[in-house]
Amino acid sequence: MSSPSPAVPAHVAIIMDGNGRWAKSRGLPRIEGHRRGVESVRTATYAARDLGVKMLTLYAFSVENWSRPPNEVGALMGLLELYLKKELATFVRDRVRLRTIGRTDELPAGVQKHLRATIEETRHFTDYTLVLALNYGARTEVVDAARAYAAAVAAGREKLNDSSWGTFSRYLTTADLPDPDLVIRTSGEKRVSNFLLLQAAYAEFVFTPVLWPDFTKSDLAAALAEFATRERRFGLTSEQLRPAAK
Ligand code: IPE
Ligand code: IPE
Ligand code: MG
Repeated sequence: MSSPSPAVPAHVAIIMDGNGRWAKSRGLPRIEGHRRGVESVRTATYAARDLGVKMLTLYAFSVENWSRPPNEVGALMGLLELYLKKELATFVRDRVRLRTIGRTDELPAGVQKHLRATIEETRHFTDYTLVLALNYGARTEVVDAARAYAAAVAAGREKLNDSSWGTFSRYLTTADLPDPDLVIRTSGEKRVSNFLLLQAAYAEFVFTPVLWPDFTKSDLAAALAEFATRERRFGLTSEQLRPAAK
Protein backbone atom coordinates (compact mmCIF):
# COMPACT_ATOMS: atom_id res chain seq x y z
CA MET A 1 0.00 0.00 0.00
CA SER A 2 1.56 3.28 -1.01
CA SER A 3 1.42 6.17 1.40
CA PRO A 4 0.41 9.64 0.16
CA SER A 5 3.11 11.29 2.28
CA PRO A 6 6.85 10.69 1.81
CA ALA A 7 8.20 7.98 4.10
CA VAL A 8 11.14 10.10 5.22
CA PRO A 9 10.33 13.51 6.74
CA ALA A 10 12.17 16.31 4.93
CA HIS A 11 12.27 18.50 8.02
CA VAL A 12 12.66 17.06 11.51
CA ALA A 13 12.59 19.28 14.60
CA ILE A 14 13.73 18.07 18.02
CA ILE A 15 12.95 19.40 21.49
CA MET A 16 16.16 18.22 23.14
CA ASP A 17 15.16 17.61 26.75
CA GLY A 18 16.46 15.69 29.75
CA ASN A 19 20.06 16.88 30.15
CA GLY A 20 19.49 17.86 33.78
CA ARG A 21 17.86 14.56 34.71
CA TRP A 22 20.59 12.60 32.94
CA ALA A 23 23.19 14.35 35.10
CA LYS A 24 21.17 14.13 38.32
CA SER A 25 20.69 10.38 37.96
CA ARG A 26 24.48 10.05 37.93
CA GLY A 27 25.09 12.43 40.80
CA LEU A 28 26.68 14.94 38.40
CA PRO A 29 26.08 18.70 38.09
CA ARG A 30 23.45 19.70 35.49
CA ILE A 31 26.11 21.24 33.27
CA GLU A 32 27.63 17.78 32.73
CA GLY A 33 24.31 16.79 31.20
CA HIS A 34 24.49 19.78 28.87
CA ARG A 35 28.06 18.87 27.95
CA ARG A 36 26.94 15.37 27.00
CA GLY A 37 23.96 16.90 25.25
CA VAL A 38 26.34 18.67 22.86
CA GLU A 39 27.70 15.23 21.86
CA SER A 40 24.14 14.16 21.05
CA VAL A 41 23.76 17.28 18.89
CA ARG A 42 26.76 16.14 16.85
CA THR A 43 25.40 12.61 16.59
CA ALA A 44 21.91 13.75 15.58
CA THR A 45 23.23 16.23 12.99
CA TYR A 46 24.95 13.48 10.99
CA ALA A 47 22.45 10.72 11.78
CA ALA A 48 19.60 12.77 10.34
CA ARG A 49 21.50 13.38 7.14
CA ASP A 50 22.46 9.70 6.83
CA LEU A 51 18.80 8.78 7.20
CA GLY A 52 17.72 11.06 4.35
CA VAL A 53 16.47 14.10 6.27
CA LYS A 54 17.12 17.44 4.51
CA MET A 55 16.66 19.82 7.43
CA LEU A 56 17.09 19.38 11.16
CA THR A 57 15.94 22.00 13.64
CA LEU A 58 17.19 21.69 17.21
CA TYR A 59 15.55 23.58 20.10
CA ALA A 60 18.68 24.53 21.99
CA PHE A 61 17.63 27.48 24.17
CA SER A 62 14.18 28.93 24.78
CA VAL A 63 13.20 32.48 25.68
CA GLU A 64 12.04 31.04 29.02
CA ASN A 65 15.42 29.36 29.69
CA TRP A 66 16.94 32.77 30.59
CA SER A 67 15.10 32.41 33.92
CA ARG A 68 17.21 29.42 34.96
CA PRO A 69 19.94 29.98 37.59
CA PRO A 70 22.52 32.44 36.20
CA ASN A 71 25.38 29.94 36.47
CA GLU A 72 23.47 27.43 34.33
CA VAL A 73 22.61 30.09 31.71
CA GLY A 74 26.24 31.22 31.66
CA ALA A 75 27.47 27.66 31.27
CA LEU A 76 25.01 26.99 28.43
CA MET A 77 26.18 30.11 26.56
CA GLY A 78 29.80 29.06 27.11
CA LEU A 79 29.08 25.59 25.71
CA LEU A 80 27.27 27.09 22.74
CA GLU A 81 30.19 29.35 21.90
CA LEU A 82 32.67 26.48 22.22
CA TYR A 83 30.48 24.25 20.06
CA LEU A 84 30.24 26.86 17.28
CA LYS A 85 33.94 27.54 17.41
CA LYS A 86 34.78 23.83 17.07
CA GLU A 87 32.13 23.04 14.51
CA LEU A 88 32.79 25.70 11.87
CA ALA A 89 35.50 23.73 10.04
CA THR A 90 33.46 20.54 10.24
CA PHE A 91 30.37 22.19 8.78
CA VAL A 92 32.39 23.61 5.91
CA ARG A 93 34.07 20.24 5.27
CA ASP A 94 30.81 18.30 5.46
CA ARG A 95 28.71 20.85 3.58
CA VAL A 96 26.26 21.48 6.40
CA ARG A 97 24.41 24.78 6.07
CA LEU A 98 23.83 26.47 9.42
CA ARG A 99 20.80 28.65 10.13
CA THR A 100 19.21 30.02 13.28
CA ILE A 101 15.74 30.94 14.42
CA GLY A 102 14.95 33.09 17.45
CA ARG A 103 16.11 36.44 18.77
CA THR A 104 19.81 35.84 18.24
CA ASP A 105 20.60 39.55 18.66
CA GLU A 106 20.09 39.08 22.41
CA LEU A 107 22.74 36.35 22.69
CA PRO A 108 26.25 37.12 24.05
CA ALA A 109 28.50 38.93 21.56
CA GLY A 110 30.94 36.00 21.31
CA VAL A 111 28.15 33.60 20.37
CA GLN A 112 26.80 36.06 17.79
CA LYS A 113 30.24 36.46 16.24
CA HIS A 114 30.67 32.69 15.73
CA LEU A 115 27.11 32.35 14.49
CA ARG A 116 27.61 35.06 11.87
CA ALA A 117 30.88 33.51 10.68
CA THR A 118 29.45 29.98 10.46
CA ILE A 119 26.24 31.06 8.75
CA GLU A 120 28.20 33.10 6.22
CA GLU A 121 30.72 30.35 5.45
CA THR A 122 28.05 27.67 4.95
CA ARG A 123 25.37 29.73 3.20
CA HIS A 124 25.94 28.20 -0.24
CA PHE A 125 25.33 24.59 0.80
CA THR A 126 21.96 23.30 -0.34
CA ASP A 127 21.85 19.56 0.46
CA TYR A 128 21.41 19.67 4.22
CA THR A 129 20.57 22.40 6.73
CA LEU A 130 20.96 22.49 10.50
CA VAL A 131 18.71 25.09 12.13
CA LEU A 132 19.48 26.03 15.73
CA ALA A 133 16.59 27.52 17.70
CA LEU A 134 18.37 29.95 20.02
CA ASN A 135 16.52 32.33 22.33
CA TYR A 136 13.43 31.06 20.52
CA GLY A 137 9.84 31.22 21.77
CA ALA A 138 6.78 30.93 19.55
CA ARG A 139 4.82 33.64 21.37
CA THR A 140 7.72 36.10 21.16
CA GLU A 141 8.05 35.22 17.50
CA VAL A 142 4.38 35.98 16.81
CA VAL A 143 4.54 39.29 18.66
CA ASP A 144 7.70 40.29 16.76
CA ALA A 145 6.07 39.28 13.46
CA ALA A 146 2.84 41.16 14.24
CA ARG A 147 4.83 44.29 15.04
CA ALA A 148 6.85 44.05 11.81
CA TYR A 149 3.72 43.31 9.80
CA ALA A 150 1.86 46.27 11.30
CA ALA A 151 4.82 48.54 10.50
CA ALA A 152 4.81 47.26 6.91
CA VAL A 153 1.07 47.98 6.61
CA ALA A 154 1.56 51.47 8.07
CA ALA A 155 4.37 52.12 5.57
CA GLY A 156 2.21 50.90 2.68
CA ARG A 157 4.40 47.87 1.90
CA GLU A 158 1.57 45.46 2.81
CA LYS A 159 -2.18 45.83 2.33
CA LEU A 160 -4.37 44.82 5.26
CA ASN A 161 -6.99 43.45 2.87
CA ASP A 162 -4.44 41.04 1.41
CA SER A 163 -3.60 39.51 4.81
CA SER A 164 -3.19 35.76 4.64
CA TRP A 165 -1.01 33.11 6.21
CA GLY A 166 1.18 33.38 3.12
CA THR A 167 1.86 37.09 3.62
CA PHE A 168 1.99 37.11 7.45
CA SER A 169 4.27 34.05 7.77
CA ARG A 170 6.98 35.94 5.88
CA TYR A 171 7.44 38.01 9.05
CA LEU A 172 8.14 34.97 11.25
CA THR A 173 11.72 34.04 12.15
CA THR A 174 11.16 30.89 10.05
CA ALA A 175 10.16 32.97 6.97
CA ASP A 176 12.08 31.00 4.36
CA LEU A 177 12.08 27.60 6.07
CA PRO A 178 9.66 24.76 5.34
CA ASP A 179 7.35 23.63 8.16
CA PRO A 180 8.58 20.67 10.21
CA ASP A 181 7.10 17.33 9.17
CA LEU A 182 8.06 15.58 12.38
CA VAL A 183 8.63 16.97 15.89
CA ILE A 184 10.42 14.71 18.37
CA ARG A 185 10.64 15.39 22.11
CA THR A 186 12.99 13.42 24.31
CA SER A 187 12.87 12.77 28.09
CA GLY A 188 9.27 11.60 28.34
CA GLU A 189 7.69 15.06 28.61
CA LYS A 190 4.65 15.42 26.39
CA ARG A 191 4.41 19.13 25.76
CA VAL A 192 5.60 21.65 23.16
CA SER A 193 7.08 24.28 25.51
CA ASN A 194 6.54 27.25 23.17
CA PHE A 195 8.27 25.57 20.18
CA LEU A 196 7.12 26.24 16.58
CA LEU A 197 3.46 26.48 17.62
CA LEU A 198 2.29 27.74 14.22
CA GLN A 199 4.77 25.91 11.98
CA ALA A 200 3.97 22.54 13.59
CA ALA A 201 0.25 22.96 12.82
CA TYR A 202 0.30 19.73 10.77
CA ALA A 203 3.49 18.11 12.03
CA GLU A 204 3.51 14.56 13.38
CA PHE A 205 4.73 14.24 16.98
CA VAL A 206 6.85 11.48 18.47
CA PHE A 207 7.60 11.44 22.19
CA THR A 208 10.40 9.23 23.48
CA PRO A 209 11.43 8.56 27.09
CA VAL A 210 15.12 8.61 26.12
CA LEU A 211 17.02 11.46 27.78
CA TRP A 212 18.75 13.73 25.27
CA PRO A 213 22.36 12.78 26.22
CA ASP A 214 21.43 9.12 25.55
CA PHE A 215 19.75 9.83 22.18
CA THR A 216 21.40 7.81 19.40
CA LYS A 217 21.05 7.28 15.67
CA SER A 218 18.85 4.25 16.33
CA ASP A 219 16.49 6.37 18.47
CA LEU A 220 16.20 8.78 15.57
CA ALA A 221 15.65 5.89 13.15
CA ALA A 222 12.88 4.59 15.44
CA ALA A 223 11.16 7.99 15.39
CA LEU A 224 11.39 8.07 11.59
CA ALA A 225 9.94 4.55 11.41
CA GLU A 226 7.03 5.70 13.57
CA PHE A 227 6.55 8.70 11.26
CA ALA A 228 6.41 6.37 8.24
CA THR A 229 3.38 4.58 9.72
CA ARG A 230 1.36 7.79 10.08
CA GLU A 231 -1.15 9.01 7.53
CA ARG A 232 -1.07 12.80 7.31
CA ARG A 233 -4.48 13.96 6.25
CA PHE A 234 -4.26 17.78 6.42
CA GLY A 235 -8.00 17.97 7.05
CA LEU A 236 -8.96 15.67 4.17
CA THR A 237 -10.34 12.15 4.33
CA SER A 238 -8.31 9.01 3.95
CA GLU A 239 -10.26 8.19 0.77
CA GLN A 240 -9.36 11.52 -0.81
CA LEU A 241 -5.71 10.85 -0.20
CA ARG A 242 -5.74 7.23 -1.33
CA PRO A 243 -8.58 6.78 -3.83
CA ALA A 244 -7.60 3.14 -4.44
CA ALA A 245 -8.25 2.29 -0.77
CA LYS A 246 -11.98 3.18 -1.05
C1 IPE B 1 17.35 20.39 27.89
O1 IPE B 1 17.60 19.73 29.08
C2 IPE B 1 18.34 21.49 27.62
C3 IPE B 1 17.78 22.86 27.71
C4 IPE B 1 16.54 23.16 27.94
C5 IPE B 1 18.72 23.95 27.52
P1 IPE B 1 17.10 20.27 30.47
O2 IPE B 1 18.15 21.14 31.06
O3 IPE B 1 15.76 20.92 30.33
O4 IPE B 1 16.97 18.93 31.30
P2 IPE B 1 15.87 18.53 32.37
O5 IPE B 1 14.53 18.73 31.74
O6 IPE B 1 16.06 19.44 33.55
O7 IPE B 1 16.14 17.11 32.68
C1 IPE C 1 12.31 23.07 26.21
O1 IPE C 1 12.80 22.36 27.32
C2 IPE C 1 13.36 24.02 25.71
C3 IPE C 1 14.50 23.41 25.06
C4 IPE C 1 14.64 22.14 24.81
C5 IPE C 1 15.54 24.32 24.65
P1 IPE C 1 12.51 22.87 28.81
O2 IPE C 1 13.12 21.88 29.71
O3 IPE C 1 12.95 24.28 28.97
O4 IPE C 1 10.91 22.83 28.86
P2 IPE C 1 9.94 22.71 30.11
O5 IPE C 1 10.31 23.81 31.06
O6 IPE C 1 10.13 21.37 30.71
O7 IPE C 1 8.56 22.85 29.54
MG1 MG D 1 13.87 20.23 30.51
